[in-house]
Amino acid sequence: EAADKGGWSSFMAKEINEQPDAVENTVRGRISETGVEIPELTELGDERLRGIERIIIIACGTASYAGQVAAYAIEQWARIPVEVQLSHEFRYRDPVLSDRTMVISVSQSGETMDTLMAVKYAIERGVTTVSVCNTQSATIPRESDAAVYTHAGPEVAVASTKAFIAQITALYLIGLHLGRVRGTLSDEVSAQAVAQFEELPAKVREAVDTHEQIAQLAHWMADTRSVLFLGRHVGFPVALEGALKLKEIAYIHAEGFAAGELKHGPIALIDHGQPVFVLVPSPRTSPLMHSKVVSNIQEIRARGARVIAVVEKGDTAVLPFADDVIRLPLADAFFEPLLQVVPLQWFALELSTVKGLDVDQPRNLAKSVTVE
Ligand code: G6P
Repeated sequence: EAADKGGWSSFMAKEINEQPDAVENTVRGRISETGVEIPELTELGDERLRGIERIIIIACGTASYAGQVAAYAIEQWARIPVEVQLSHEFRYRDPVLSDRTMVISVSQSGETMDTLMAVKYAIERGVTTVSVCNTQSATIPRESDAAVYTHAGPEVAVASTKAFIAQITALYLIGLHLGRVRGTLSDEVSAQAVAQFEELPAKVREAVDTHEQIAQLAHWMADTRSVLFLGRHVGFPVALEGALKLKEIAYIHAEGFAAGELKHGPIALIDHGQPVFVLVPSPRTSPLMHSKVVSNIQEIRARGARVIAVVEKGDTAVLPFADDVIRLPLADAFFEPLLQVVPLQWFALELSTVKGLDVDQPRNLAKSVTVE
């Protein structure tokens, strides 16, 4: 088994380390100088894609957070309203569906029963179903009109890591494909996104290289009983994912919040020494959001929070208010989540490890939940 882990102490560590490849393999064959084309979507026919008026992403757990990140980008590129629903909630709200609705399911395993049942429900109502899946020939992609596989390779650890990054990548490619077909995406924006994808594996590698720093941080924080995560825009679902990872494998109470929501409640939780990870948007690409998040940091710091700021390299605005700073490579706003999540994955893994827990097989959880 040690050999399967490629010399790493756990499958999760190995899989975090494989994330640059997960991105590269998921993009391969789907981008060119003329933009993004996913053959599986082309097969659906451009007319059908042009007619789509609404997209609903359905998923559970980590996959749902990948959907939440991508919803921002798909709306922007394809100008189609996108909402994300948990698979197990979808059916019970009697959703408004038509033949102009597209349901995109996201599932690493392709076997999650709640997601499968939601997809079947959608098929019965005549919507176009697209499956984003990491497992060849799993049930969900077989049932769907089109399958857009993520090529992250088999994921063994219960806590999902490389599948998350690959899911965001695949969903972004879908958004770019739809934008091209529908004529809502300029050549310039398309070329920019393609360039970001080309540079991404090397940047994800740099994010993976924060391991040592994060291990040290987790070591200092071994007794932590609660951790909060704050993010804005695409950083918000990253905050939710960072909190989920901690709950799953370190059994620590953790919550993610939209930074703007702080003053509406969560700030009451801030007490002396409360650790808060803050995902700071780039001051270059998102100056307005950046300044808002910096003032959020000041607010929580003034109330005693221990601030761990995840920033773009060169961002010095947070330095006076942060106890720890994790620096990541520069990327366009939509591509930041693919870097920001990596240190959060390491943090959960290292905290689980210092607590002597089983990183790969957390209590009470299964890799794939095949019951409703
Ligand atoms: C389980 C796993 C999670 C995963 C979720 C969805 O709860 O423990 O890590 O995110 O299922 O799984 P799927 O295979 O549908 O992506």
